[in-house]
Formats: sequence, structure tokens, C-alpha cells
Amino acid sequence: MPSVPTVSDQAWVTLATNDTYALGALVLAHSLSRARTSRALVVMVAPQVSPGIREVLAEVYNEVKEVDVLDSRDEANLALIQRPELGVTFTKLHCWRLGNYNKCVFLDADTLVMQNCDELFEHEELSAAPDCGWPDCFNSGVFVFCPNEQTYQDLLNFALSYGSFDGGDQGLLNLFFHEWARKDIKNHLPFVYNMVSTAAYSYLPAVKQFAKDVKIVHFLGSTKPWMHNFDPVAGQVTVKDAVESFSQGFLQTWWDIFASDVLPRMSAGEHADLTHALGRLNLQSSSEVCSDEASADVKTEQERYAAWEKGQMDYMGTDSFANIQAKLDAAISTPKRAKSKSPEAEPEPDVEETT
Ligand code: UDP
Ligand code: GLC
Ligand code: MN
Repeated sequence: MPSVPTVSDQAWVTLATNDTYALGALVLAHSLSRARTSRALVVMVAPQVSPGIREVLAEVYNEVKEVDVLDSRDEANLALIQRPELGVTFTKLHCWRLGNYNKCVFLDADTLVMQNCDELFEHEELSAAPDCGWPDCFNSGVFVFCPNEQTYQDLLNFALSYGSFDGGDQGLLNLFFHEWARKDIKNHLPFVYNMVSTAAYSYLPAVKQFAKDVKIVHFLGSTKPWMHNFDPVAGQVTVKDAVESFSQGFLQTWWDIFASDVLPRMSAGEHADLTHALGRLNLQSSSEVCSDEASADVKTEQERYAAWEKGQMDYMGTDSFANIQAKLDAAISTPKRAKSKSPEAEPEPDVEETT
């Protein structure tokens, strides 16, 4: 059962349009609950999110709200951020329709709360942290907003007239809330509330100095925490590409929460339709692979991931239920560890609803 919020008219809100991002949403909710938030937890899900994963979501979220998918279908601008899949992030706009709440904080499903940050609810709409790529834009992975049906309608009309300069919600929201950069510094959230895990590339000394103060980590970019390899026996994540050691620490925290709070609730026997989501995980004991084989294996996993994206699962082979069940059993039976964008192209005013 989700815990009862003491402040019931304020909520943390996230979005999962598919079962894979729902895995991220599950870890996020458990991180919020470990941080003992006093606010409600809401996840917006698309119709294609499977019933099994909705049940697991409902164990930790106070509200699992189905929403229609909104897709910018703006291939030209999405190509600028090399993320063709992010047109569906327009679905985030539904958060302004959550009329049961006066104030909310939206968190991307690829974020992780490291410490209680309920103080974010003291900020006004629209508060957010600067984007690392263009700090006069805010990053839309974490933002404070006030649900309001009129704002939702205004945003939709705005999207139809002006589109988004990155093809996703961030380009749209930054055009709509264009005063953010200059009007009121109180609407600028400190970077520790949306710490992009690749920040060390830009300023390693600051990372060393301030990493301990991080409140929310954002695993921005195309490689998400659930795409790395996890050894359920050792309880260790093995990153695919070289990442700084501080990023590895945050990834390890993500997997610690996944292994101890999420996986035990996802028994495939009870929720056979979770096979799809679980099949996306690379759960493998490091003793099963030597290093050369490991890199070959990573390639295979990437190819497999691409095939899953196209709906081409290898049900008779790697993705067979027996294989996934075996991985899952290994993970569940393992004793828990003690450790705990460029605005140049024409906007495309084409908001499509897909269900
Ligand atoms: N999202 C989703 N389904 C998708 C893509 C994105 O539900 O297919 C949601 C999810 O909440 C995700 C957010 O939209 O965290 C933004 O996408 P992402 O985090 O991948 O973008 P990035 O932060 O890497 O730019
Ligand atoms: C970003 C944000 C993400 C947003 C995407 C598309 O980089 O991190 O939240 O959905 O751009 O606009
Ligand atoms: Mn994100």
C-alpha cells in the first residue's frame, strides 16, 4: 500500500508511456518514499502500459492515472537532439490537468531522489533548474507547476501554433514560459535539484566538491540506468561505456533500490505480462562472462534492445519466458546487500493524439 501523504493537495508527478519507463518510475517512487516525502505520488501512464506493471505502480503511487499519448511528430526538430523517440514527451502536458492538486513537482522517470526535497513545493510555477546545454533554458526533467485546465488548453494551442524547437516538451515549455530566464531568480532551482549525471565532463572539480549535496539525479541522455548490466549475485552494476566514478555511484544507488524495493514485487508468476519489461533488463552474474565476451555480450544486448523497440522479441530464444524467469529467480533469490538544442528549424505545429 502506498503511504498516505500528510499534504494531500500537493504531489510529485511522473510519466511512463511504456513498461520500460515504468521501471524508472518505480525506482523513482521508491526513492521518494525512502526520502520520506510528505506529498502524494502520481504517475501518468499511457494506455499501452500493461496491467501487471500498473498493479506494481499502484503499490507505491497514490494515483496511477491513464492519459492519452500526445506526440509532436516533429522529426526534424527531434533530429537536432538525436532523440527521435521523444515526440511523446508532449504527453507531459497532461500534468496540468491533475485538478486534485494545487501544486506539483514533475520529475522525469529517469530521475532519482537522493534526499528529501519537499522544500521544492515552496517554489511557484514555473520553477526549474537551468539546462546544461543552454542555461538560459530550463531543463524540463524537474519542474514546479500548478495544475490548471486553462493552462493545459493554452499550452495545447501554443503547441499547435508554434511547436517546439527541440520537438519535445522542453522546447515547447521554454517558449511558453519564456520569462523564466530573466524575470525572477526564485524560479531558478539550484542545480542540485536536477543534477545531470554527465556534469563531470563540464566541471569535475565542482562535482568533487558538491556531489554529496545532490538532491535529485537526472540520468539524461539515451543510455538509461535500466540499460546497464546488473550482476544480481554481486549486487553490482557494470556500466556499458566509461563513465566517471561519481556517476557509477548514482547508478549503483538506482540499482540498489531496484533490486531491493522493486524486483521482489515483480514476480513474473503473478504478473506474466511483466515479462516484456523484465526482458529489457540485463541481469547477469559477472562470473558468467569474461571481459572479452562481456563486450560482445553488450553488443548483443544493444541489438536485442533495438529489436525490442521494433517489437521483434526473440520469444523462442533469449527473450523466452524461461530465460527471463531464470534471470528473475536469480535476482530475487539473491540475499539483499546491506548497502542499502538549437532553435533554428521551423517549428512544426502538429500535436497528434495517439492511443
Ligand atoms: N518518456 C516516456 N516514454 C518515452 C520517452 C519519454 O514516458 O518513450 C517520459 C519519461 O518520463 C522520461 C521523460 O518522458 O523520463 C523524458 O524523456 P527522457 O528522460 O528519455 O529524456 P532526456 O531527459 O534523456 O532528454
Ligand atoms: C530534455 C529533458 C527531457 C525532455 C526532453 C525533450 O533534455 O531532459 O525532460 O523530455 O529534453 O524536450
Ligand atoms: Mn530525463
